[in-house]
This record gives sequence, C-alpha cells and structure tokens, in this order.
Amino acid sequence: MSTWANLGLQDSASPLMEQLIFFHDHALLILVMITVLVGYLMFMLFFNNYINRFLLHGQLIEMIWTILPAIILLFIALPSLRLLYWLHEINEPSVTLKSIGQQWSWSYEYSDFHNVEFDSYMIPTNELANDGFDSLDVDNRIVLPMNSQIRILVTAADVIHSWTIPALGVKVDGTPGRLNQTNFFINRPGLFYGQCSEICGANHSFMPIVIESVPVNYFIKWISNNVNS
Ligand code: CUA
Repeated sequence: MSTWANLGLQDSASPLMEQLIFFHDHALLILVMITVLVGYLMFMLFFNNYINRFLLHGQLIEMIWTILPAIILLFIALPSLRLLYWLHEINEPSVTLKSIGQQWSWSYEYSDFHNVEFDSYMIPTNELANDGFDSLDVDNRIVLPMNSQIRILVTAADVIHSWTIPALGVKVDGTPGRLNQTNFFINRPGLFYGQCSEICGANHSFMPIVIESVPVNYFIKWISNNVNS
C-alpha cells in the first residue's frame, strides 16, 4: 500500500503492474529529455543576437522538426499498445471473482464455489483497531490464491464505480447494466489495498477494497469453510 510521502507508484505485486512501471519509467525518460532540450533552447534564445533580414523559409529544418517528434511519439505509442493488449488478455483463469459496486460498499461473489457471497464495508474510524489503516480497512476481505490466474468481473448496482488496486495494475469501471472483465496474477502473499476511483457520490472515498493474497491451500481451506456455513 501507499504510505507517507510516497509520490511514485506502489511496489508491484503482479507481472502486469511490473510492466506498467517499466512503461511509466520509459515514458518519463523521454519526457525529461524533451523538457531539457526545449528548456535549454528557450533559455538560450535570451542570449543570442543573430539577426537575418533575408530569412524567409527553411525547408530542411521544418522537415526535421516535424518528422523527428513523430518518430519520438512512436517510441511511446508502440510499447503502450503492446501493454494495452496484454492488459486485455484472459489466460485461462482458475478463479473468477465477481465484484459489484454499491453506494457505498462492494459485494463479492465466488461463482465457482457454490456462489460464496458477502458484502465488504469500510471500518469506520471509531471502530478501527490500533493497527488498522484509516479509511482503508474493511470488515470482510477478499481472499485470493497467489500464483494463480484470477479473473475479475466488475459491475455496479446503482451508479458507476471503479474497482482499483494500484499494486496489481487493475482499474476497471463497474457500470450498471454492464459486466466488465479483466484478469491478474498476484505473485506474492500480502494485503493489497485499493479504492473506488469513479466519483460515485458522498461516500466515494469510503468504499475501499482489500485483497488478502494467500497460498493456494490456505485459499481452499478458507473457501470450503465459507461454502459449508
Ligand atoms: Cu464508488 Cu466512487
């Protein structure tokens, strides 16, 4: 999760988020190079005294400074497209989780396991445990197996919400009347926090998401306990 003064991206917990971070760093590097070059040129304009009374056109330089930026943009566009297609790929998921946005909470359904279902509400500040995270912890966490392909189906019951987990590189809108899907692969155990990221009403800030990533046998134990109850 994000902690104080963390202005960058969170540490990745999935291969796709790792690729998103690589792409971010790549794009930022190009951005810095352009900014430095243009900044230097603009700054140097203050100090040159060159005047040419007969200058009317410069075909060659116009060609160069039109085509060069287009080529630079390609170096961003092609990796961006590659990532976009990866993000849409569904790789034979072993678990499907359905998540329904409500005003203002999330409901979850494990359709593969006799439809285990539960609601997930934020824990209010006055009920928070001493080691809890304010506005981020929930009463019922999602439990998912690590090292497995997981499909997530997202929809909403009232207005548009967005199911977003930064560490996993997942951000899918939940829209009433539609069912969106994406997939992810959690490559380590731990707690992963997320929040709704569509402005959905008064308590938009208070419908967080918590994923508990556990080894597969722990997950099987957890799901079988919930199927029986
Ligand atoms: Cu739900 Cu914002």
